[in-house]
Amino acid sequence: ESNLLYRSRLDRDLDKAVLDYVSSISDDGEIIMYDILGSQAHTVMLYETGLIGRRDAGRILSALQGLEKARPGQDGKHEDIHELIESLVIGKAGPASGGRMHTGRSRNDQVALDMRMKIRHDTAAIFGQTAGLVRSMLELASRHTGTVMPLYTHMQQAQAGTFSHYMLAHAGALTRDAGRLCDSFPRVNQSPLGAGAVGGTSLPIDRGMTAQLLGFEGLVENSIDATSSRDFAAEYASVAAILMTNLSRLAEDFVIWSTSEFSFIELPDSLSSPSSVMPQKKNPDIMELTRGKAARAIGNLTGVLAASKGLATGYGRDLQEIKPLLWGSGRMASGALAVAESAVRSVTVNKAAMRKAASRGYLAALDVAEGLVIEGVPFRKAHKITGKLVQSAAAAGKPLDRLPPAEIKKALRGSGVDAAAVARLVRSATVQESLKRRVSRGSPAAAEQSRMIKEAG
Ligand code: ARG
Repeated sequence: ESNLLYRSRLDRDLDKAVLDYVSSISDDGEIIMYDILGSQAHTVMLYETGLIGRRDAGRILSALQGLEKARPGQDGKHEDIHELIESLVIGKAGPASGGRMHTGRSRNDQVALDMRMKIRHDTAAIFGQTAGLVRSMLELASRHTGTVMPLYTHMQQAQAGTFSHYMLAHAGALTRDAGRLCDSFPRVNQSPLGAGAVGGTSLPIDRGMTAQLLGFEGLVENSIDATSSRDFAAEYASVAAILMTNLSRLAEDFVIWSTSEFSFIELPDSLSSPSSVMPQKKNPDIMELTRGKAARAIGNLTGVLAASKGLATGYGRDLQEIKPLLWGSGRMASGALAVAESAVRSVTVNKAAMRKAASRGYLAALDVAEGLVIEGVPFRKAHKITGKLVQSAAAAGKPLDRLPPAEIKKALRGSGVDAAAVARLVRSATVQESLKRRVSRGSPAAAEQSRMIKEAG
């Protein structure tokens, strides 16, 4: 007698090593709840449609109760959670009743159902965390509309900015992540249950009823599509990978800005890691791990797509390998959001270091060129003149606003541009003045920051 439920067609049991190889039981702990909920709804539907009697339905439902505590993998002889739950039900309710639970369904529609329910749940949970992080970012931004910092391109100082402007940039990206989670929800929230193995059933089941009982918006109607498509899984892995990539960019900034060279920010001790050997160390490991986990999330997306792309239509066991990738991506996204939120809530922003760094570059150079544009100089010529001005200031080791008049005259030689006007522009080429001059929508101007925080909140 086989120790697996359905080996009547096969004479011999699986070797232990083979069972270990084919079993997904170690990945199925995450869906045990959903497998039970699905079986409850299926049993109610079988009763309502007259496919099983009241006593049998009652016995199955009582047997299902409490099974979520059945820890898979304990005895190491089950192929997956579906088989484990069914054998437990048969054990408790007896074969005459329990043996009726799997009427009109297959493990193929069952596993697709469990995955969709798990992803639906995790999508909602991660959405909530993302929204929470955005709120914390807006809160942090609102305290730093006046915190001046350099903006970088190519990691070289580029223009004058504020820390609130920086924070709002990440809040914007995360708001889109939240949007992607929302958008994907109605696609995952469709029931595959009742599609059977691949071609439906001859029994008069009611797919709409189980879909409704389980809170689905509708059906994945086509039975082949319902059992063998995993684009919902790819979409979830993709949304998680994009989210992790966005968090990784924030993490990278926080790592760099925590260095003694930058000292723009400091994470609290409770979020920092020591070194086993260097007593002075306070490392931003949580942020490095977000970068590392983002790499894994990208790998998981690749794994899901690769497992799906060559599969002939109809369920193939390859699809089993997708499950741990999805659970992993969900866990990483949730963890990364939690630590990002802690970091954003507790980070110390070193305003003085930011201000000092901003005063050392030539962040207002573009303003001088744009001032010349207002004077009627073509932008390309204004760019060239300002480049010369910066060159002389750099050679003299002076900020642009301290450039001596003689140097200005030299830079203007042969240009026909009025030296007095340029001198005025150069005098006001400071970070403070530059920020005051920002007028374009979405720029770091104080008024823009307040408006954007208000509108986002
Ligand atoms: N353990 C399987 C999985 O996770 C369940 C479906 C098995 N179906 C089958 N026909 N072998 O994908």
